[in-house]
Amino acid sequence: MAMWAGRFSKEIDKTVNDFNSSISFDARMYRHDIRGSMAHARMLGEQGIIEKSESEKIIAGLQGILDDLDSGKLQFDPNAEDIHMFVEQILTDRLGDTGKRLHTARSRNDQVALDIKYYLKDECDEIIKLVLDLIETIIQTAEKHYDTVMPGYTHMQRAQPVTFAHHIMAYAQMLYRDIDRLIDCKRRMDVMPLGSCALAGTTYPLNRRRTAELLGFSDVTANSLDGVSDRDFCCELASCISILMMHMSRFSEEIILWCSWEFKFIELDDAYSTGSSIMPQKKNPDVTELIRGKTGRVYGDLMTLLSMMKNLPLAYNKDMQEDKEAIFDAVDTVKLCLGTFTPMFATMTVLKDNMRRAAAKGFINATDCADYLVRKGLPFRSAYKITGSLVAYCIEKDTVLEELPVAEYKKFSELFDEDIYDAISLDTCVNNRNVEGGPAPEAVASQVEKLRTKLRELEV
Ligand code: ARG
Repeated sequence: MAMWAGRFSKEIDKTVNDFNSSISFDARMYRHDIRGSMAHARMLGEQGIIEKSESEKIIAGLQGILDDLDSGKLQFDPNAEDIHMFVEQILTDRLGDTGKRLHTARSRNDQVALDIKYYLKDECDEIIKLVLDLIETIIQTAEKHYDTVMPGYTHMQRAQPVTFAHHIMAYAQMLYRDIDRLIDCKRRMDVMPLGSCALAGTTYPLNRRRTAELLGFSDVTANSLDGVSDRDFCCELASCISILMMHMSRFSEEIILWCSWEFKFIELDDAYSTGSSIMPQKKNPDVTELIRGKTGRVYGDLMTLLSMMKNLPLAYNKDMQEDKEAIFDAVDTVKLCLGTFTPMFATMTVLKDNMRRAAAKGFINATDCADYLVRKGLPFRSAYKITGSLVAYCIEKDTVLEELPVAEYKKFSELFDEDIYDAISLDTCVNNRNVEGGPAPEAVASQVEKLRTKLRELEV
């Protein structure tokens, strides 16, 4: 018999029961559901809404259920409608009438809103920890590669020289913003909805702030309709995770390129690559490809949530049960991706010489050649034009700027002299870019220091 059986003259159809049931996916919130109920029961007792002794029995009963679920002594009933009904049913089976008092001044509508927020707050912390691990790994790698010159690209064309440290620190900056967004998202999640009840609050003299305090929430929702109808926090978290996945996907894309034979900038550790069943020479970057692929799936989760919410009238509607699979999938996916990416990144080999060789080709120092003429007094546009002709000339002669004799340079401008070779050497090109945020080794070292300070100041 369902708990709401009073009004009904028939048992629910088996297909509808299965269709309606969410226990297969909301069971994972059991700890949060039970802790929420314990706090509610404690507050009910303190307020004299139920007897103190009954409140204590309920709390002990809930603790017993929690322990039994943790140990596996008690199993979830797949026929239960949801985790909330399941826990209450077991409590009532074990305590009789006392168990039936737990749901006083509460509805599953505020209960489920509490459970998801409470559960996702913890998940935010888990994700933040994993992102911090990745940032730390990136920083440690960067510290070894301040001098590792590589080509920087625009339009996938070699553009200007940077260093490997500088390149990967760009991802550390993105990931730092991801953490900042997650912290912000968690702050808005930190508002407790219990007491909103079904939609219109309650006539019982609840102490909502006490329940919030017991559960570690810093505030309570200000409007009961909003308290049960709000799933902004799911949409927000899915957005934060989507952006984070987008960063991971771009990083993955670069790693896929870098370990191709065409680039050979890095080599993945054997433990983090896969082979082909037919082509013996293959070493495939499956991990990064999967991350790129799974990013689309997480965007799908975000779309599910936004579309599910967009025409729901207030207050609770059963559509909202669809929130869980979407947000849980986003959370699970990002954790899986981070947990795999970080050790893969930490164990890969950086092929410095190949990076430098690639940077030495492709006229990556052409801007520096133009800047040389500017330093000698030419306006930038004129210097740009002369250098363009020089590059065209080198391509025609199948040579590079570094190897062109001064005499030839002078045909393009009398301002050229022996010191041109120093001005366009890769190391000079990188070392001179020491503007704040630039790729010069000291600029990147200071970028690392500043990020470390910001990470230390995070309140996580
Ligand atoms: N399983 C439901 C959900 O996940 C819980 C809330 C049900 N409330 C209701 N009035 N049917 O959304």
